[in-house]
Amino acid sequence: MTIAVVGATGNTGRAVVKELRVLGQNPVCVVRNADKAREVLGADAKTAVAELADKAALAKALTGVTAVFVVTGHNPGMVEQQNNVLDAALSAGAGYLVRVSGGASVARADSESDIGRGHAAIEQHLKESNIKWTILRPGLFMQNLLGQAASIKSDGRIVMPYPADFPIAWTDVRDTGAVGARILIDPAPHAGRTYEFTGKRTTNAEFAEVFTAVLGRPVTYVPVTIEQNEAAMKARNMPDWLVKHLVTIAKIGNAGGFSKENTKAIEEIAKRPPLTTRQFVEDYKGAFG
Ligand SMILES: NC(=O)c1ccc[n+]([C@@H]2O[C@H](COP(=O)([O-])OP(=O)(O)OC[C@H]3O[C@@H](n4cnc5c(N)ncnc54)[C@H](OP(=O)(O)O)[C@@H]3O)[C@@H](O)[C@H]2O)c1
Repeated sequence: MTIAVVGATGNTGRAVVKELRVLGQNPVCVVRNADKAREVLGADAKTAVAELADKAALAKALTGVTAVFVVTGHNPGMVEQQNNVLDAALSAGAGYLVRVSGGASVARADSESDIGRGHAAIEQHLKESNIKWTILRPGLFMQNLLGQAASIKSDGRIVMPYPADFPIAWTDVRDTGAVGARILIDPAPHAGRTYEFTGKRTTNAEFAEVFTAVLGRPVTYVPVTIEQNEAAMKARNMPDWLVKHLVTIAKIGNAGGFSKENTKAIEEIAKRPPLTTRQFVEDYKGAFG
């Protein structure tokens, strides 16, 4: 068995690699930046360098691989990029592909989100191919909070476009890593299955209280409107497609799209409860100061 992880330097990819190693595997980490790979995955990681637009490099990177895990950042090129990965996996003769998708409220052919429709298009192509597959639909990532690490550190503020008492089933990407790694190692029972899963449901104010307790200093949750959040993102010169995507995600979220708790796949496949918000803040304490 030879497993490849495409997107290994990202939030989820590195968690998959870590779990695979704990389970005795040494996966091929497909990365675009060898220096970052060394820093994030360690100098002993087995790496293959491939830009997702480079079909020849991807085919070379996946030579001899039997199962592929793929997660890419959400970006306007995602459909072409992930189709390239599928093509390379097929030409390498890999029998299995596990992919990280969006949540069920986002990854749909009729989604308001461009990224959500992208996931649906990738999945249609995947299902029409000859490879066996499993699709993972995690909830909203706790690791998104790392994007606010500077403001949590300097001002003790978490700012989001949701009311303070709004419930979200925040999900740690390390749960996706634990689930994904086990599927890669023993894929047969999971072929053709789509797993939706989340961590435990909590309100954003409660999440801030966890930060306060773990960091030992006050962290306040500051709710803003979707419009205020959009203006702030534009002021930070974020690309238009990303602002549009995050506004759509906030609208889907405020309609309850990320509020439903569903921990079953984590419990059944990883054989443990989902990681808690407390565990998340404790483990990333260094980043939040
Ligand atoms: N954020 C959420 O709350 C959430 C919730 C559910 C589902 N999702 C889905 O999860 C996925 C994002 O997961 P993530 O946060 O783990 O991703 P991430 O941290 O952004 O990692 C993306 C990985 O893909 C690599 N990559 C991106 N563009 C590349 C290119 N052109 N060539 C080669 N490699 C490239 C990145 O390399 P570098 O490290 O070099 O950049 C990185 O390793 C998206 O599909 C999103 O829709 C997100």
